[in-house]
Amino acid sequence: MRIENQKVLTALLALEVERQESVSLAELTYLGIGGSTDLLRIRKHESIPTLLELLDQHGIAHKFLGGGSNLLVVDGELPFVILQLAQPDKDVVIEGNFAKVDAAADLGRMVTYCAKNDLGGMEGLIGVPGTVGGALRMNAGAYGTQIGSYVREVKVYRAKERRIETLQGDQISFEYRHTSFAPDDMMLAVKLELPSKTYPEILKGIRLCNEKRRASQPLGQKSAGCIFKNPPGGSAGRMIDELGLKGFHVGDARVSDRHANFFVNAGKASASDMLGLISSVRERVQSAYGVKLENEVVVWNA
Ligand code: EPU
Repeated sequence: MRIENQKVLTALLALEVERQESVSLAELTYLGIGGSTDLLRIRKHESIPTLLELLDQHGIAHKFLGGGSNLLVVDGELPFVILQLAQPDKDVVIEGNFAKVDAAADLGRMVTYCAKNDLGGMEGLIGVPGTVGGALRMNAGAYGTQIGSYVREVKVYRAKERRIETLQGDQISFEYRHTSFAPDDMMLAVKLELPSKTYPEILKGIRLCNEKRRASQPLGQKSAGCIFKNPPGGSAGRMIDELGLKGFHVGDARVSDRHANFFVNAGKASASDMLGLISSVRERVQSAYGVKLENEVVVWNA
């Protein structure tokens, strides 16, 4: 979608929102798949309510992009614009056992920065790609750690109320890859409370998780991490593997040989290749095990 209305463009300038014309989502997502649209980069959280009112008034649909690491976007000219937070100069501030973090901060860099300040707990999250905002929205987790456990406050744009609010940790529920935020709420910043640990101790944990990840996941390839959530008490990866589906492909969308719940873009996969692979694997698992796997990856359809 192209924003061509001059009034809107002038208003964007006044809000200090930077427009990048016709960006390719294939370049902004880890899967390397997706069509093109205008991207609006937000410099000041406070401009968001006015910005969204402006877009609504002019019938401009929008979606909010974090780090693009868990996202599958359809191909072609997209019928919505993308909003993304600009990265502030200082995105993590430590005060005692608290870390105040901007949602645009890179998750791994935040974990490392906290570690260097002797704050641990998040060692398991070290190899999870994406932004802190994206991790928060879906309560990212790995190796027994989930970000929600450390959240004390979240600054969020509440889409329904159309205003920025600060929620206390106990006002939010964090479940397995799910939170009580509404789908169109925007994460803006978070205050985490982290246990004190020495840097060498944290580093040991980080190295261990990195080794486990390297041994079991296709890290060098284009993927969105795990495609399906694990069903209660089960493992999507193990089920897909047991069905002999490693290497199974639709076009260049392929079930990883290393971890069967990772689907990789092995060349020039289209969104429909990837969606075809997802539904085909889901059907096979359902007919073999009677389990309907739910997407873990977020899909942006047209
Ligand atoms: N397994 C297989 N074959 C495979 C993959 C896995 O038999 O191809 C078996 C493993 O041997 C193991 C079991 O399945 O016994 C579970 O596998 P793994 O330890 O790799 O964990 P997972 O449940 O597949 C989850 C998260 C990952 C996270 C890891 C480590 C989900 C959907 N996935 O994977 O998160 O990195 O644990 O904690 O919850 C993600 O969210 O995108 C993601 C990759």
